[in-house]
Amino acid sequence: MLHFTLSPEERDQARAAVAGLASELDELDARADRSGTGFFRALPVAARRLPERLLRFLEAFRREEPAGGFVLSGWTVVDDELGPTPAHWRRPAGTAGTASVHELYLVLVASALGDVFAWSTVQDGSLVQDLMPVRGEEWEKNAGSSASVLDLHNEDAFSALRCDYLGLLCLRNDDRVPTVYAPFDPAGLSREQRRILSEPRYLLAPDEEHLRRAAERGEEPPAPTRTGVLFGGDSAPYLAFDEYFVETDPEDAEARAALAALTDQLRRSRSDVALAPGELLIVDNYRAVHGRQPFPARYDGRDRWLKRVGVTRDLRRSRAARADVGSPVVLTGLAG
Ligand SMILES: [Fe+2]
Repeated sequence: MLHFTLSPEERDQARAAVAGLASELDELDARADRSGTGFFRALPVAARRLPERLLRFLEAFRREEPAGGFVLSGWTVVDDELGPTPAHWRRPAGTAGTASVHELYLVLVASALGDVFAWSTVQDGSLVQDLMPVRGEEWEKNAGSSASVLDLHNEDAFSALRCDYLGLLCLRNDDRVPTVYAPFDPAGLSREQRRILSEPRYLLAPDEEHLRRAAERGEEPPAPTRTGVLFGGDSAPYLAFDEYFVETDPEDAEARAALAALTDQLRRSRSDVALAPGELLIVDNYRAVHGRQPFPARYDGRDRWLKRVGVTRDLRRSRAARADVGSPVVLTGLAG
């Protein structure tokens, strides 16, 4: 895991970039609409105003793949200005508060890695999602859960349109609830195991959140995909895995054994990352998996609160699943 810390001068420069984007969005009247095309269009150019040392670091991370993730520190979150942790991601309009400044910081940094995008079935297609415990979802396997473990997974492993990078910005984490991070090391598997894991002998299912929201929206629910969990070359493959939502044919002992070896390797490589307010964890969704340890929800306005964003290196791949070329929202029912 790499670390990058903004100097005080660089933090000021990042703040200026955020302020510049905010005023641009105000002029476009696009600030309230987080999935709107105006907001989306402004990001790539605005991201170039981030500190150069940070941009160089992000570019090296993207192009040279030195690690499965990194933590970016140095951004300031003033807790008193934040307001209580919301009870649900679906909040009344106009109640975002100053969290929006942090959202802008998150999408700016993310935009230096590629294009941020959203799923129609995740938090109503919002480009930035709120992660906090939601009452009644304690035992689910989704962003609102708390009592259940979030098993190791690549974000949206079931879909070829999954993000290349996942960004998690911490706004509040009084109880130091850890995010789990586990880089994949292909050398930890035999050539034969890598070959088996690359064959379409695995079924990756979408999580219930996608299915439930697709039904609500009248969209075709995404279907489980029969696929390999490794792809992109024999010697240094990438990974599309979900400990909870992957299945093999019960008769296929070879596929199950290889999957067990992969799971074991990932479990051995995992570490707990308890993010502090202002820290941003970026995970390479092709080279590392993530999860979350269980924790008791408080529901007192002081719960752990993260902002999440997904980034793709190639927005064109999802063109058939987006309503128009300038839209960042992938319609899950068309994602195929
Ligand atoms: Fe996730």
